[in-house]
Amino acid sequence: DAQLIAVTLRVNGTKHALFLDTRVTLLDALREHLGLTGTKKGCDHGACGACTVLADNQRILSCLTLATMCDGREITTIEGLANGEELHPIQAAFIAHDGFQCGYCTSGQIMSAVALLNEGHTTSQEEIREFMSGNLCRCGAYSNIVAAIWSVVEGKKDAAF
Ligand code: FES
Ligand code: FES
Repeated sequence: DAQLIAVTLRVNGTKHALFLDTRVTLLDALREHLGLTGTKKGCDHGACGACTVLADNQRILSCLTLATMCDGREITTIEGLANGEELHPIQAAFIAHDGFQCGYCTSGQIMSAVALLNEGHTTSQEEIREFMSGNLCRCGAYSNIVAAIWSVVEGKKDAAF
């Protein structure tokens, strides 16, 4: 028996007033109710990372998160990363370093990488690899993904001097 409740989702800076079944995941709310299909559904069980988004700047698996739990939180998806025409540095680095092949895992990889920069687990390529290990890539683009993230870390260091 569906039970609908009112939820206000703030996504990429825009408020959306929705009535949702209490069982709807944030992933389905984004994709099916808001038409934001950049966030991908891989396993739908918390195992692949394809559905990673940010909630108040921290990465979460949207397939394991009920939409109703996100009332009032600031959700950021891949659609909200670029600043107008200007890509987020991580997006640009994924292009420059060929960090994707089929692209299915890419939104999740990029959202995780953006969060990783804030978390500070970026002292080495090994650490990046470890803290990105929740994001699977069936195409095996891992070394280019790490190279892309590392280039942004290195670029930040250079910018500081
Ligand atoms: Fe959420 Fe796989 S779809 S972790
Ligand atoms: Fe195909 Fe990662 S680029 S799954």
